[in-house]
Amino acid sequence: MTQLADRTKLIKPSVTLAIAAKAGKLRAEGIDIVNFSAGEPDFDTPERIKAAAVEALRKGMTKYTDVKGIEPLREAITEKYRREYGLSYRKEDVLVSCGAKHSLYNVLQAVINPGDEVVIPSPYWVSYSDMALLAGGVPKLIPTGEATGFRMKPAELDAALTPRTRVVMLNSPCNPTGACYDRDELLAIAQVLEKHSCLILADDIYDKIVYDGFAVHNLVALCPGLRDRTILINGVSKSYAMTGWRIGYALGPADVIAAAGKIQSQSTSNPTSFAQAGALEAIRGPQDELPIMVREFAKRRDTIVSLMNGIPGIHCLKPQGAFYVFPNVIGLFGKKSTAGKQLQTPCDVADYLLEEAKVAAVPGEDFGSQEHIRFSYATSLEDIEKGCKRIQEAVAKLG
Ligand SMILES: Cc1ncc(COP(=O)(O)O)c(C=O)c1O
Repeated sequence: MTQLADRTKLIKPSVTLAIAAKAGKLRAEGIDIVNFSAGEPDFDTPERIKAAAVEALRKGMTKYTDVKGIEPLREAITEKYRREYGLSYRKEDVLVSCGAKHSLYNVLQAVINPGDEVVIPSPYWVSYSDMALLAGGVPKLIPTGEATGFRMKPAELDAALTPRTRVVMLNSPCNPTGACYDRDELLAIAQVLEKHSCLILADDIYDKIVYDGFAVHNLVALCPGLRDRTILINGVSKSYAMTGWRIGYALGPADVIAAAGKIQSQSTSNPTSFAQAGALEAIRGPQDELPIMVREFAKRRDTIVSLMNGIPGIHCLKPQGAFYVFPNVIGLFGKKSTAGKQLQTPCDVADYLLEEAKVAAVPGEDFGSQEHIRFSYATSLEDIEKGCKRIQEAVAKLG
């Protein structure tokens, strides 16, 4: 056996990708799986964006670019933040990376020293804690639940912050819960953060995917006093259906951005040249596709929430953003499958649903929950109806 580095033992492979792979394998065997596990829009990337990348390739944009990303793209990102949130960043304050995941990774590598605490409201996106561990940090979770709509209270944040806190992760709208902080809630959180000296990573990747007229607020715009300590993370994956293109970015204090860029320069170098051309078109071009996609997601959200709540033992909140629901399944714990297995954890329930209902969803454990399962509704209405019917039938078979 090869002796591997200790850091490989700190982390686990992404459970989301593992479930997607298991579902994919069953599908390849000819089994009709309804897949609620994918964390990506099922829409295709808009044609204008594809055309921009093709054009870039034709024109010979096939070489290395500036490690930090091409200037026009970094400028377009600063213009976007000026237009949408009234924030003025310079192109030097922007680092374009291979997806927002990579942006988060680079920034955490740039700011965490061994033993530094990384405060993470839970449930959280699976990669936050593992990325913190890989950087030598210590994840410190703040549990939240249905009672507060999966939003942490300012006092809970206050209690979690210590002199060892280096970073606080914020993610609104949140993956996996879809929870969003409104203006007053974000302001109250900002007021707690102002009393401390930690850095804040605001992962705003779902900021364009909100429903019922929810008004998204930007932490730095709301509280300019936090600007020197906040790194904004965003990308094109979710808003423009560009997950495979791998373009994300960070905006923040020039020294953090330069350090993260140095790390990027010794690992991936620049993100793919022509994907940057596509991202530039995505951000600068007409924004007509987004509201169409969001309207469609809203219909699906309403459908899946109502169908889930019709299944005995499952309780589902209606989220205001992103494209996930995170129903509570403790009502199914203690019940027995036809094969005689007692369901005791979200993993048991997800496994049962995959085996019995041929429905793939991601168990809550790796998101920090012992009670929930994540369903992505970035799939057709038809599949949502079919999948929920199958879940209902499978649940009815439990003894
Ligand atoms: C909360 C959150 N942040 C970041 C990412 C990473 O997105 P990408 O690397 O595709 O830009 C995801 C993807 O699922 C996410 O859900």
